[in-house]
Amino acid sequence: MSLVVFDEVKKEFSGRKVLDGLSFEVEKGEVLALVGPSGTGKSVTLKHIVRLLTPDDGRVLVDGVDVSECSSRELESIRRRVGYLFQGGALLAWMTVEENVALPLRECTSLSEEEIDERVAKALAEVELTDAAEKYPAEISGGMQKRAGLARAIVRDSDVVLYDEPTSGLDPVTSITINRLIRKLNRELGITSIVVTHDLQGALNFADRILLIKDGKKVECLPPAQFVESENPVVREFLVAMKGEL
Ligand SMILES: Nc1ncnc2c1ncn2[C@@H]1O[C@H](COP(=O)(O)OP(=O)(O)OP(=O)(O)O)[C@@H](O)[C@H]1O
Ligand SMILES: [Mg+2]
Repeated sequence: MSLVVFDEVKKEFSGRKVLDGLSFEVEKGEVLALVGPSGTGKSVTLKHIVRLLTPDDGRVLVDGVDVSECSSRELESIRRRVGYLFQGGALLAWMTVEENVALPLRECTSLSEEEIDERVAKALAEVELTDAAEKYPAEISGGMQKRAGLARAIVRDSDVVLYDEPTSGLDPVTSITINRLIRKLNRELGITSIVVTHDLQGALNFADRILLIKDGKKVECLPPAQFVESENPVVREFLVAMKGEL
């Protein structure tokens, strides 16, 4: 069974339809890139997976559990399993990198300080940020801040990670490092990943499948090689629009 399922999800804000019957599935262990024009509902889609938003109609399932209907205990278990790298990173400026990474453990678990230190060190090592543990966000580069956000997203031993534009605002070389890291976490830790991105070239390299949404609906969801060959006019239009970046 698929790990994440969107089944005809509809969502509108003040009468404006954002998701309009969106359906797609993400398999366990897969890296899915979610692409589409700005304002098309990509961030809104991710928020539904951890019930930061609920559908007006349709269902979102995580490992077979309906996220809108489940008990608060089931929801807590889903939120523990699903790490979230928010658009913009959202590190707290007055906390060091390691304090930022420890936050989800301090807030949502009853682990001892020793266990917390151990898990934080492991997460920082995964993203190759051990040396920056005691620095403040303002003292490290944008790429390092993204990696710190990534460490925070995986620190609860999440097996699914939602990445909202992990490379936006980064130079191409740093973007490649982050994209490789996403793939490494997927390969080595088996993390199922949904990556919202405007970096189509990157997505073609790291994703197992590319999901294009437009006007709140799925246009196409295919492996990279088939995606670029798709005859679907909306995909062609999207590829032409992105051509300058390929
Ligand atoms: N909580 C909310 N309340 C009202 N409107 C919202 C809310 N969240 C999102 N929207 C609206 O839904 C639409 C889709 O937003 P969303 O953030 O999902 O776009 P996006 O595809 O992530 O775009 P971008 O690529 O620019 O990040 C936008 O028009 C946005 O203003
Ligand atoms: Mg967004």
